[in-house]
Amino acid sequence: MLSRRSVITVGALAAMPRFAIGQTAKIRIGVMLPFTGTYSSLGEMGINGLKLSLAQHGNKLGGRDVEIVTLDDESDPARAPSNATKLINGDNVDILIGTVHSGVAMGMVKVARETNTLLVIPNAGVAAATGPLCAPNVFRTSMTMWQPAFPMGKVAYDKGYRNVVSITWKYIAGEESIAGFKEGFEALGGKVIKEITVPFPDVEFQANLAEIAALKPDAVFTFFSGGGAVKFVKDYAAAGLKSSIPLLGSGFLTEGTLEAIGEPAEGILTTLHYADTLNLPANKKFRGEFKQAYGKLPDLFAVQGYDAGELLAVGLGAVKGDVNAKTELFASMERTVLDSPRGHLAFSASHNPVQDIYLRQVKKGQNEVLSVAAKAVSDPSRGCKMMPS
Ligand code: BEZ
Repeated sequence: MLSRRSVITVGALAAMPRFAIGQTAKIRIGVMLPFTGTYSSLGEMGINGLKLSLAQHGNKLGGRDVEIVTLDDESDPARAPSNATKLINGDNVDILIGTVHSGVAMGMVKVARETNTLLVIPNAGVAAATGPLCAPNVFRTSMTMWQPAFPMGKVAYDKGYRNVVSITWKYIAGEESIAGFKEGFEALGGKVIKEITVPFPDVEFQANLAEIAALKPDAVFTFFSGGGAVKFVKDYAAAGLKSSIPLLGSGFLTEGTLEAIGEPAEGILTTLHYADTLNLPANKKFRGEFKQAYGKLPDLFAVQGYDAGELLAVGLGAVKGDVNAKTELFASMERTVLDSPRGHLAFSASHNPVQDIYLRQVKKGQNEVLSVAAKAVSDPSRGCKMMPS
């Protein structure tokens, strides 16, 4: 368990003054993730994925040793700007990585833009980060909320569902996930007949489940993740809805949650940019190495943290570790194509992943890939001025 703020030297060099010795000083990376609360398992997986990538590069980026400073952001948007500022000004980090919660990521983007600090977002899916607030120094190795949710619209329609109820936490990530599904589903002729929201991170679902039972939709589409997802899927089954109203989700619902949920998760269909059973050499290798390092299998959040490390390795390799060679560094990162455990991973002009979205089903405690729901999905990045017009 990581304390709220801690420094981990992952390189071998002894401490040296930073600017006096230029290229041989350590690169300091400030990692803001939730290590407590409903998203704590996502934070833990994310940093373990990142550390695995760094370890595989000898704990060096562009030839320089790396030092990580971690901070538990507690999924608290109100404290995000001061937390990010503390890492940059107080801990002198060169690069920021974070976070899981979209509201917190918004605070990080603001500070990164103001200070021109390189920010890599390893999970949060808020559209604005690679939309109206896109910037040369802001990259994302995860997705927008729209990306995995939109293709589920067609999956649901093709299954014959016409009236769907949505339920999510009332904050930007949940709202954008539902909007993505709705866009895909209603364009084909389906209807989201009721949008239910619950305050974040509440997990009291009884009244909402009674409402869903009374509405009798063809299916329910949802965004929950982490501890909240575990509680929701269990409560859904306990309320007797599992057998009568199919539960659909963007894949966060069943990602990293299956062991805790158990039987009630079996059969759930989701769409996401990763699946446990992806038959790709890079995925098999990653899963084996992660299991060996941490004693348990990885999930999407570990993949995204790993790819954040891989992206930095390419970018900093191109500038030989010179974090101040920003133009070249950002250009190299933008051109990067990774052979990710999720498959082919490229970046759009807005610095958001272009990636396949998989249709998955929970079978025997795993997210099994059924098909590619949508190929090379690129977020529209509406409002991003870096996108070609
Ligand atoms: C978000 O807040 O952006 C988010 C949180 C958990 C999973 C996916 C996205």
